[in-house]
Amino acid sequence: MNNWTKTSWRDKPIKQQPVYPNLEKLNKVELELKKVPPLVFAGEVRNLTKSLAEVTKGKAFLLQGGDCAESFAEFGAVNIRDMFKVILQMAIVLTFAGGCPVVKVGRMGGQFAKPRSSDYEEIDGVKLPSYRGDIINDISFDTKARIPEPKRMLKAYNQSAATMNLLRAFARGGLADLREVHKWNLGFMKNSRLGEKYEKLAEQITQTLNFMEACGITSKNTPMLHETEIYTSHEALLLNYEEALTRQDSLTGDWYDCSAHLLWIGDRTRDADGAHIEFLRGVHNPIGIKAGPKTEADDLLRAIDKLNPNNDVGRINIIIRMGYDKIENLFPPLLKALKKEGREILWSIDPMHGNTIKTSNNYKTRAFDSILSEVNSFFAIHQNEGTYAGGVHLEMTGQDVTECVGGAKAITEEGLESRYETMCDPRLNADQALELAFLLADNLKKSLKR
Ligand code: PEP
Ligand code: CO
Repeated sequence: MNNWTKTSWRDKPIKQQPVYPNLEKLNKVELELKKVPPLVFAGEVRNLTKSLAEVTKGKAFLLQGGDCAESFAEFGAVNIRDMFKVILQMAIVLTFAGGCPVVKVGRMGGQFAKPRSSDYEEIDGVKLPSYRGDIINDISFDTKARIPEPKRMLKAYNQSAATMNLLRAFARGGLADLREVHKWNLGFMKNSRLGEKYEKLAEQITQTLNFMEACGITSKNTPMLHETEIYTSHEALLLNYEEALTRQDSLTGDWYDCSAHLLWIGDRTRDADGAHIEFLRGVHNPIGIKAGPKTEADDLLRAIDKLNPNNDVGRINIIIRMGYDKIENLFPPLLKALKKEGREILWSIDPMHGNTIKTSNNYKTRAFDSILSEVNSFFAIHQNEGTYAGGVHLEMTGQDVTECVGGAKAITEEGLESRYETMCDPRLNADQALELAFLLADNLKKSLKR
């Protein structure tokens, strides 16, 4: 790897970083983080890359989802469990109704740092530095709270370790057993139309399992029925943290960013000559790149070639986030250009970040119909080009929040105030996420390459 070290990003232009007032304190925290155990193991990362290669070839589907921003205040077992359950529910819908293996990746266990459209926030004439995520500063609108505090990185690491620990326990300890498929339905959803639709599907699965058991296939002799795999991911934005968690694998000698299995680069920091691409080109994790409406094919190609000079399958995931009203004009030329160049790309759709609107009662929201429309366009465009729509990237929660309007329960603008709890962007609630999974399954059935 040409001239790469885990610190070589420090000589490149960088965007969206906090300005720490006390560099000595920052240094101390970085030294401490360099000694902590990694959150993921390189072998797991390689397994994920293999699975993503299958997705790239059109033989599986990537389901990536979780909070816009994890928070210190909302941290707890119930939130983690419910997020895990709704991801499992969606995956089972896609696997059973869509007939396709699903690779599950949470925006969890490290999704803390946020890029912001403005460096400052102004309320009633008072101007303070923007909130940049709990790993950097505090959300309360207060001079002291907004000062970047390095020690928050240690807290974020510890919370990520505990989250990871519980996810592994849920995945291996029996909760993910297909015999538990009814238990994944969240209590508050049982009386909803979607909850009932899910129950029907769960019943069919249980019957299938009974049949398989009669044939001698049980979770005792077939571990796949008893456990699952869930990977973690976040935006690799705060490079001090990412660098400190980067380790050399003793088996292969390769470098891995051990803060998560998959890292992505945001739409605002994907400059091919910038610090974020420089850092990530040297680690062997699979890498996502967000591509918004301003993306130029040449710039994207340059970034891809820096990150993946050997064109390895499973390394690059481009996450399209154009907006429902722009995708049809902007995505086809980009897709055509990259197809022509023969790059191995897993294409997924983030139908959240291009569809954020402000309501008249001043809530940042997203309409379920716009989200669905961007997803449908994404599938249709791939159908036209003969390429494969490989995945979705969602901001969602396992809770019954009211942050996105629409969906089966028809949340209105007025209804947003009842449970608007996000730290940053509006998330699909559990009902809306499951509804989207059912609608996605219909698309998937048509697009799979068998
Ligand atoms: C995000 O995924 O939370 C995000 C900020 O996305 P983007 O970089 O696409 O704006
Ligand atoms: Co967001």
